[in-house]
Amino acid sequence: MCGIVGVTAADSSVFQGKTIGRVLRELLKMLEYRGYDSVGIAVISDGNIVVRKGKGKIDEVSDKLKFDEITGLTGIGHTRWATHGVPNDTNAHPHKDCEGSIALVHNGIIKNFSEIKKKLAGKGHVFKSDTDTEVIAHLLEDKLSDHNRKTFLTALKEVLEELEGSYALAILYSRDGERIYFAKKLSPLIIGVGNRVNLVASDIPALLEYTSTIIPLKDGEYGWISPDKIVIKYGDELVDYKARIKTVDWSIENVSKAGYPHFMLKEIYEQPLALRETFYGLQSDPNLEYIVERLVESDKVYITGAGTSFHAGLVFKYFLSKIGGRASLPFISSEYMQVTEEVGENDVLIAISQSGETIDTLTAVRSFKITGGKVIAVSNVLESAIPRESDFAIYMRAGPEIGVAATKTYLTQVITLSYIAIQYGYKSGRLTSSEYRDLIEKLSYAPQLTESSIRYSEPFAKMYSKDLKYKKSMYILGRGLGSILALEAALKVKEIDYIHAEAYPAGESKHGPIALVEKGFPVFFLYTLNHRAELVGNMKEMHSRDGEIYVSTPDQEAIRDSIRDARVIPVPIYDNEILEPYAHIPAYQLLSYYIAVEKGYDPDKPRNLAKTVTVE
Ligand code: F6R
Repeated sequence: MCGIVGVTAADSSVFQGKTIGRVLRELLKMLEYRGYDSVGIAVISDGNIVVRKGKGKIDEVSDKLKFDEITGLTGIGHTRWATHGVPNDTNAHPHKDCEGSIALVHNGIIKNFSEIKKKLAGKGHVFKSDTDTEVIAHLLEDKLSDHNRKTFLTALKEVLEELEGSYALAILYSRDGERIYFAKKLSPLIIGVGNRVNLVASDIPALLEYTSTIIPLKDGEYGWISPDKIVIKYGDELVDYKARIKTVDWSIENVSKAGYPHFMLKEIYEQPLALRETFYGLQSDPNLEYIVERLVESDKVYITGAGTSFHAGLVFKYFLSKIGGRASLPFISSEYMQVTEEVGENDVLIAISQSGETIDTLTAVRSFKITGGKVIAVSNVLESAIPRESDFAIYMRAGPEIGVAATKTYLTQVITLSYIAIQYGYKSGRLTSSEYRDLIEKLSYAPQLTESSIRYSEPFAKMYSKDLKYKKSMYILGRGLGSILALEAALKVKEIDYIHAEAYPAGESKHGPIALVEKGFPVFFLYTLNHRAELVGNMKEMHSRDGEIYVSTPDQEAIRDSIRDARVIPVPIYDNEILEPYAHIPAYQLLSYYIAVEKGYDPDKPRNLAKTVTVE
């Protein structure tokens, strides 16, 4: 986790009247979702390095330490999600060497930091923090002191050879002036190529104020940027990066709140648009046909992802079986060791990751590839690690998601995977061409249905959140596809509201979970198309134990006729299972959002979580 940035400009006019301290603060705000327990910046000012850093959120720390007063043209910044060392002022980045001529920020984990620290302490280096990062600054200092004529880049190469683990680094060296050194292994790092300004950052949103031209770096690359030059090396070789320069079509408006109180709400509202873009993008995706062929010809289909992405994978499993008649094997990415023994050359893995950087999913992809199996990535971030390391990639077009909780990226994953399942059904001969066309047409209603779901359910989500904020625990139950969607609904409530929410197949609930139900215990049901009679039966079982019944339903009458005091959450009417996610899921996203607001929590930055999880 953690977000890093670096910016180096030819002159102050590039910053349009802002100081570099202000610029770094704004760039870091774009990365705040990657970590937010402490923050810091380092700037080259009159040939020296000025560091300001502290525990707390970006605005708090930068106001307190007056970031906006710091002038200069070259600086780096960091927003932290603690791994080694508690969040406090000393452990905040940047970290310096003994002499103070090197300052660096780091995202990743240095696994062998204790050995290096011991060795350097023996040589007289004095460490101030408990972090793994600080050893890199001292190791650089040590390499530079080996003999006088060594360049900083040579010292950096030697340091990288000693480090085990993962890193994205941005480094200032006061003796080399207006330059930022960088290095990447396993953690994301992107160069932004601007006009009289160059940047590095963990993620694209931090670059957009100054450029939409990027160079995604590859593992093992290191080098430096100045306002008008970029040097990338791999080992001793200079990298010719010209052909790798890309333009992204994300805009700064996409990554600002645009009048919404939180990114999460904005992103829930953006879903119809994101679904439309994704759906029409799929129709012209040149990779899709080949990918579907690979799936049809494969021996076994595996599916992996973490958190929400895994939940989208389960929806894929459901439709691949229902529509394509094809069994598949889903596994949670961090549990890849359970399956890799059995994988063969003709097997395919669908690896789902919105960020494309989740280390668990990346590790699963790598292990799968060792067996000779083929990997198809489904991601939202162009050229991120997982699509890059996969054999084929399909991109959703959700745009940047800043809120930590996945919302629009879930539904765009679901539409992408449903589309692939329909294509599979047709290609494998299970669907006739008219059935195929009919299903694609149904799926094209997803954006509209999502829009209606938001409109119908929002007032009820707001109203119920006032009671639900007092609850400690709840069930979310469904049958068939409903039980899979319930998993995602429950994850939202857990992560944003800090309420224990458990998803369960409704039919299974009487084999144990019902024991917890007592007066006032909330039990939610997704009243999905199939198994409606059985669902009503399960509602009655919970109701007769005094459970408080909540139902997301396109048919309010049917629910009220069966249970008079049920609290309904109206969702729009739909006539095909393929549309079920878009009718029900927005209601639960809004519910979790409003409960968090009622409880006074920040839904964009839930405690203990980070948007991109790059630690195992
Ligand atoms: C939940 C959430 C996480 C992510 C998970 C995987 O709202 O955001 O559970 O879904 O960390 O992330 P990606 O999809 O980036 O691999």
